[in-house]
Amino acid sequence: MLFIRNITLDLILQGSSFKMNRIGELLSLLILLLVSIVEEVQACTCFPTHPQQQYCKADFVIVATVKREEVRYSKSFIKSDVIPEDPNFMRFPIERKFKVRIHRKFKLPKTFIGWNKNNFLYTGGSGASCGVMLKNRVTYLLSGQISGPDQQLRISMCGWVQEYKTLNYHQKKGLNYYYKHNCNCSVQWCTYDFCNGPRDVDPSFVCKWEPNWTNDCYTKHGFCTQKHDGTGCHWKKNRKFKNCLVSNNEKFPWRQNREREIAPQIETNEHSPGFEWP
Ligand SMILES: *[C@@H]1O[C@H](CO)[C@@H](O)[C@H](O)[C@H]1NC(C)=O
Ligand SMILES: *[C@@H]1O[C@H](CO)[C@@H](O)[C@H](O)[C@H]1NC(C)=O
Repeated sequence: MLFIRNITLDLILQGSSFKMNRIGELLSLLILLLVSIVEEVQACTCFPTHPQQQYCKADFVIVATVKREEVRYSKSFIKSDVIPEDPNFMRFPIERKFKVRIHRKFKLPKTFIGWNKNNFLYTGGSGASCGVMLKNRVTYLLSGQISGPDQQLRISMCGWVQEYKTLNYHQKKGLNYYYKHNCNCSVQWCTYDFCNGPRDVDPSFVCKWEPNWTNDCYTKHGFCTQKHDGTGCHWKKNRKFKNCLVSNNEKFPWRQNREREIAPQIETNEHSPGFEWP
């Protein structure tokens, strides 16, 4: 199953670089969705998620350096470099835990009181259970959830996991200010008008995002911010964002928004109220 999924992903990745047509893109998206549904029980599937959305949906967002890793094979945790001797021992790790030193907290729930200099982060034992493999002594930006009665800090492959030194100016600016102040907005991954996100969000508060798999300007420089008049959200313009889009030969989202607003609303359902044939 994992094998098939990788092939599908490859197809999609190649598809975007070879400028496959829209139908092709949609088809591969459908295949991916289908495969994800089938393998949901066995493997980890994450939808592409914009950093702003990662920030907003997370319980915590921190910068932390990994000090030590422990792996749980069955009942208890052991050091990651120790291989269990018991031949009957399950060789597949169930869970990993990382002792980390936390440097910064960009987001934390007010109710959580367990912050120390050193905390443990928990994750699935393997990639199939969405586990994150962090490297020792590396500093990461990590987003995650707080779960269970003992308030475990949990991270997963579907969260925001990025080596801290690779964050750019705009991502740091987002973490410090823009993401937090715009969680009323929702960045959704869209293909045409099919968007992956909660259905109960007012569409005018959605910023559409079609990731470019080779160089995504939206992830690097995009903030989805509330309009000043409070009527919705839009992609905030900045010079780097614009230059990035120009060099990718991509359309500007702010120009598209304007077009969409000016275009008349066409009601296609002939049975809708108020529409009568003469
Ligand atoms: C988000 O929207 C709610 C309801 O529409 C409003 O009360 C709240 O002030 C908004 N939050 C921000 C940060 O603007
Ligand atoms: C994605 O980025 C690449 C590299 O910068 C660019 O050549 C390509 O045209 C972009 N693709 C799309 C679909 O915009």
